[in-house]
Amino acid sequence: MINDLNQLRADALAQLAPIWDDTALEEWRVKYLGRKGAISASMEQLGALPKEERGAVGKLANETKGELEAAYIAKVGAMKQRALSESLEAEPLDVTLPGRPVLRGRLHPATANLREIYRIWGDMGFQIFRSRQVESDEMNFQLLNIPPNHPARDNWSTFYVADTEQRVLLRTHTSPGQIRAMRQLSQGGTQPVRVILPGMCYRYEQISARYEIQFNQVEGLAVGRNVTFADLKGTLTEFARRMFGERPVRFYGDHFPFTEPSAQMDVQCIICDGAGCAMCKYTGFLEILGAGMVHPQVLRNGGYDPAEWSGFAFGMGPERIAILKHGIEDIRYFWANDLRFLEQF
Ligand code: DAH
Repeated sequence: MINDLNQLRADALAQLAPIWDDTALEEWRVKYLGRKGAISASMEQLGALPKEERGAVGKLANETKGELEAAYIAKVGAMKQRALSESLEAEPLDVTLPGRPVLRGRLHPATANLREIYRIWGDMGFQIFRSRQVESDEMNFQLLNIPPNHPARDNWSTFYVADTEQRVLLRTHTSPGQIRAMRQLSQGGTQPVRVILPGMCYRYEQISARYEIQFNQVEGLAVGRNVTFADLKGTLTEFARRMFGERPVRFYGDHFPFTEPSAQMDVQCIICDGAGCAMCKYTGFLEILGAGMVHPQVLRNGGYDPAEWSGFAFGMGPERIAILKHGIEDIRYFWANDLRFLEQF
């Protein structure tokens, strides 16, 4: 029996050595290590042996089994290794192939546009003042000359957050930041202020290609001892020149409760250069922003004496400007996070 086992081991290892394909290897495994294989058969014969021999033979049978299993595992590894080297030789690596491009993120078009607006106003001496998005009715309306139930409120369909005494709401425009900036920066109505107030605004609108319920605005405010309507026109004209290049602008009378007088500024259409197109509705001009001289009552609400101080303010919608600039046909693209839109910028 001992000789049989030694012979079995020698035969098995000799047969394993030249095997290099999966089928032959599996046949070998079944033949020697399988449930009905040679090793199992030897184990079964142990019972028939005289007691004194059983220990030594059983030990040898176990050792043989272990050895063959180890040889099998080593063979599997060797075959994998050989297959890899063969495939590397058969299909050589082309180290001159161009690399796969690494995808890089980029700024959202609204962010890029906002940053350009910040840069221009920054260069013109305006600092950024961050104001809150959750406001009181008092800030968003009343201190801007829009009392409760005033019909002008229809211009700003409002999301109310809580119907408490203060009527907490999502700001419908960045204009309430004017009051906060004046109160915070003027040191009791003694210092001039020159700020822009950018940020998200919210309106309770039916969402469509033209209206979104959220959008950015950039508000501006300049208060000083001698700020005139000429300053308003000069400053906004210069902004338009830096933003849109050399092209005519025009001012129109308008009405806002928080400015008096109020105006709207148009810039010559950047799509058709004034010739008339669908974007400018064949007027040759695009409406860019609303503006005006800060109403005396609003100055007072901000802590200034309107007999000594005056100011101008303006408000624009950067997404609207981006729509005009790039001919974007649907405002919903801005917050839809569709890469097919975003990757165009
Ligand atoms: N707050 C106005 C709006 O949401 C825009 C605006 C108009 C802001 C005139 C101003 C201004 O500061 O002077 O439609």
